[in-house]
Amino acid sequence: MSRSNIFILMATIPLVFFQSVRGKDCVCDLKNSDPAFPEAKLTKVETTSAQCIETITSEKITELDRLLLGLQQRIKQLEETVVLLEKEDDKNLYAAVSFRIIELEFAEIQDLLNKLNKSTGDYHQLGAQTAVQLDDMKNTMVELEKFDSMQVIKKDRENKRVKRDLEQCKNELKATPQPPTVPPKRCGLGQIANVVGPRTYSLTVHSTSYTYGAWGRDANPAPGDENKYWLVVLTSSNVYGNYVKQFGTLSTLLLGIGATDTLISNSNPTTNTIQGPNMVMYANALYYNCYNTYSVCKFNMTTRAVSTVALPSDTGYNNKNPFGYFSTAYIYTDMDFATDESGVYVIYATTSNYGNVVISKIETSNPPVVGQTWKTTLYKLSASNTFMVCGVLYATRYVDKETEQIFYSYDTQTKEERYDLKINIKKMQTNFQSVNYDPRDNLLYVFSDAYILSYELNFQ
Ligand SMILES: *[C@@H]1O[C@H](CO)[C@@H](O)[C@H](O)[C@H]1NC(C)=O
Ligand SMILES: *[C@@H]1O[C@H](CO)[C@@H](O)[C@H](O)[C@H]1NC(C)=O
Repeated sequence: MSRSNIFILMATIPLVFFQSVRGKDCVCDLKNSDPAFPEAKLTKVETTSAQCIETITSEKITELDRLLLGLQQRIKQLEETVVLLEKEDDKNLYAAVSFRIIELEFAEIQDLLNKLNKSTGDYHQLGAQTAVQLDDMKNTMVELEKFDSMQVIKKDRENKRVKRDLEQCKNELKATPQPPTVPPKRCGLGQIANVVGPRTYSLTVHSTSYTYGAWGRDANPAPGDENKYWLVVLTSSNVYGNYVKQFGTLSTLLLGIGATDTLISNSNPTTNTIQGPNMVMYANALYYNCYNTYSVCKFNMTTRAVSTVALPSDTGYNNKNPFGYFSTAYIYTDMDFATDESGVYVIYATTSNYGNVVISKIETSNPPVVGQTWKTTLYKLSASNTFMVCGVLYATRYVDKETEQIFYSYDTQTKEERYDLKINIKKMQTNFQSVNYDPRDNLLYVFSDAYILSYELNFQ
């Protein structure tokens, strides 16, 4: 209840007038037939509610979510390990080595459980405290409502309920309709039916310092690297990056512990540093737009050697053909990289294709080579990002602060183009700076205003 309501309430208390004659003067006695409005009580409720809001911040809740996610991931991994070991088991029960692996995973799970136990303990206490306060406030409010003789509050509440119903109704209308017609089946996957999530939603170790970056998994990892995650943030001007962070597991990434940093170069920016957020990791090499050129850079994570290959000389770079929406451009997103079931692609725009999107396969040899190329009619600035699944390019666009939409596809096998997809993605922050698809888990890895998110793609 706001302060202004107090005055409404006080003004609406019924008043009774008495008239009497005392000597010559006519005097009015004003007598309030209702008890006085207990303003002090209302002030107390306001203060208590402000305190409650302060103690329960969204960060605390995010922290709990993060721990739970980490735990979920570890248990899944343990399950996988056990299944794997069972398969390998040839009559002898698990070897000592295998036990050691399980032991280590248990230790990590125990560690997470302890953290979770501590957090939930804290929350429990906080929750109990808050419950008492809430109950108190509720009672006071019921008491105060008796003063609402004009039913201002009741009507206001009803208004709010109607508004909420209306909002819900609108949302239901907005819900993703089924895309028309059926495209080809590739890699055993049908067409994208919907996008579920976010499944993970977290800040990185960099917190909110940098809003441009990318993350994901190696789409074709070396044996032993299957559970690794990589993260690159553009730490200079939101444009340039000079090192790659790697984490052993999703939980360590979400908790921000145990990262390995691999440096591309000491200064930033300089020759061969990363320019723009749209990069990918494939077979232990990072593919990205290298600094101040229209070339693709391949950074060998093991040897730290960089090899390059040039795109056509009329390729847009240095912020000439970025992604965007309305009057906004995502700076230096001239080149987007994508991995799918078949390898690495680069998505860019050329002058000879009128600023429309061009797709090139990148052969991952040493040095890399530009392979088959496709020209589309999709104007690059009209898309906010792209990714590829089974040889089909998908483009997203900005709908509003809450929704991003997959609206376009280009099939590199049939050259069929479609602008009629309407597959919505629920956002937590306003902008998607990068989107990567991992063919191993069918997840989209999104970097959004300093947050990292993953979404599940469902196929028909
Ligand atoms: C959680 O913490 C409480 C008190 O700190 C302790 O008594 C309890 O055993 C813990 N539970 C687990 C599952 O670790
Ligand atoms: C990285 O370099 C090493 C040594 O030259 C080579 O064996 C390996 O294949 C390279 N990795 C990639 C992804 O090219």
